[in-house]
Parts: sequence; structure tokens; C-alpha cells
Amino acid sequence: MAGRVDALYFFLVGLAVFFALLIAGLIVFFAVRYHRQDSNATGTKVHGLIALEVAWTVIPFLITMVIFVWGSSVYFAMAHPPDETLNIYVVGKQWMWKFQHLDGQREINELHVPVGRPVKIIATSEDVIHDFFVPAFRVKADVLPGRYVSVWFQPTKPGRYHLFCAEYCGTRHSGMIGEIVVMDPNEYEAWLTGGAAEGSLASAGGKLFADLACNTCHRADAQGRGPVLDGLFGRQVALQGGGTVTADEAYIRESILTPSAKIVDGFQPIMPTFQGLVSEEQLLQLIEYVKSLKSQTEQPTARPNPPNGPAQNETTPVKK
Ligand code: CUA
Repeated sequence: MAGRVDALYFFLVGLAVFFALLIAGLIVFFAVRYHRQDSNATGTKVHGLIALEVAWTVIPFLITMVIFVWGSSVYFAMAHPPDETLNIYVVGKQWMWKFQHLDGQREINELHVPVGRPVKIIATSEDVIHDFFVPAFRVKADVLPGRYVSVWFQPTKPGRYHLFCAEYCGTRHSGMIGEIVVMDPNEYEAWLTGGAAEGSLASAGGKLFADLACNTCHRADAQGRGPVLDGLFGRQVALQGGGTVTADEAYIRESILTPSAKIVDGFQPIMPTFQGLVSEEQLLQLIEYVKSLKSQTEQPTARPNPPNGPAQNETTPVKK
């Protein structure tokens, strides 16, 4: 992406320099060429010139349209990651970057990625606004508490690249820096297996799901008091009172922290909030766990509560 961003940038700089020189040059030229030679001289009246008016309207219009079309094509390319990306979660906090790989590796202020593969960063903050900035990749995005922001890049050369926080976030903002380490795919595989991984994010999420007893209500057999989560991710969910929502990261996060915000059609607002009980990292684990739940059979859409729901203290884990 760097080449495309730079080409646009240099075009804009070139355009600005060209017009600045043209205007400054003409001012000097006209001042010399048409200066008052006789103290009694008066200028001739000018009554307008349609051709000139049209020219200085149409030419700038065309130039700005070029900027608009070119700029938006670069913007769309940056905003839409390819389908197959390597997803990495990032949690910013005063004053460090915490990275979570899907298969469990965690890193602080250092991120290892393979060369040549599109990488999608899904970022959030656990305190204030930070900003994920990797100048070499032309990647910069505000990282906001309570939301997931994503950016993507595709490293083309192995090496180490600076990572900065680009939003003033407190005393040690300037120290909130790190490195993106781009590795050869083989080296990357070796690095991945070499780390002391504690199991994948999804498996950690599955354990947490059972520890928090989420599985008492969200049962795979649709006999629970909460909606079935298998095959949920990415689907449209019908809500009480009409309307639908796409089950993405933000929706799952909200459903864990503020369950009453969106009630699935046919269910009661009985889920307690988990605000303060799960950290940002644990939320990511739970989200990955929900993503990993594929629907094993074509399930009918969410069904209403059975009148005699399961006993409240039932804690049989539902094994997928
Ligand atoms: Cu984080 Cu500045």
C-alpha cells in the first residue's frame, strides 16, 4: 500500500508546488510588466471574459475530481482487507501494546508476522484513546476503548519496523512504542511453535465460557434459556421489537457487557452483565470461542424459551 499512498501524496505535493510557483511567478511578472509608468495613467475597464471564467472553473474542477477518484480508490483499498487475512488482536493500555495471536501467543510491544501475508489488526483499548501507527506500512488508526477498530497491511520485506502510539495518552505516551517484526514464513512458523503457547485463543475462550457458566444458558441443543451460539458469528440476528443486527465482534462484546442492549427475538432479558468480570483480553477469547462454534447441523432459527427451562444451577458443560 505504501507505493500507492506515496504516489498520491507526491502528486498532491507536486500540484501544490506547481500552482504556488505559477501564482507567485505571475504576481512578480505582472507587477513588473504592468506597473504604473505615468502618474496620471488609469487602467482600462474590464467587462469580463466568459472563456476565462469557464477555464478557471472547469480546470480546477477536473483536477479536484482526479484527486477525489484517486484518493477514494486508495481509501477503499485500505479500508477493505482481503478475505484471507491473518488476524491479530491488539489491546492498547497506558502505556503498552498487547498483541494476541489466534493460536495463543501473546506479545508486548512486539509483533511477529510473516512476510507476504495480509495481516488484519483488530484493536481496542482498555483505558484511553491510543493510536496504532506504523509509518513504514502507512497504517494509522485511533484505538478506542469499548470498540474494535481494524486496519490491515501486507508486509513485503522482512525486517523490523517502528510502531508508535500517535495519540497523546498520558505521561508516558512517548514511551508507548514497539516493533513489528516481519519474518520469513519458515522462520515465522518456527517462531510460532517455539513460543510457550497456552493453547489457542478460542480454546482459552471455551474454558472461560464454562468457568463463567455461560454454557448453562447458551446450550448447543437449544434447550437453554439463551440463544444457541453455534454458527452465530457473521449471521443476521433478529431482535425483539423488530430489526436485525449482524453478529460481529462488536455485537458479541456488547452482548457480554450490556446484555440488555439488544435482546434476541423470542428470549427474555435475563442475562446478567459481565462488566468488570472479564478483561479486554478475556473478551477477545470469548469472541474467538463464539467464532469457532460452527453450526454442526442446520439449526432452526432461535426458538423461544421452553416454559420449563433447565434448572438454574445446572452446570453440565456442553461439549461441542
Ligand atoms: Cu498510547 Cu499515546
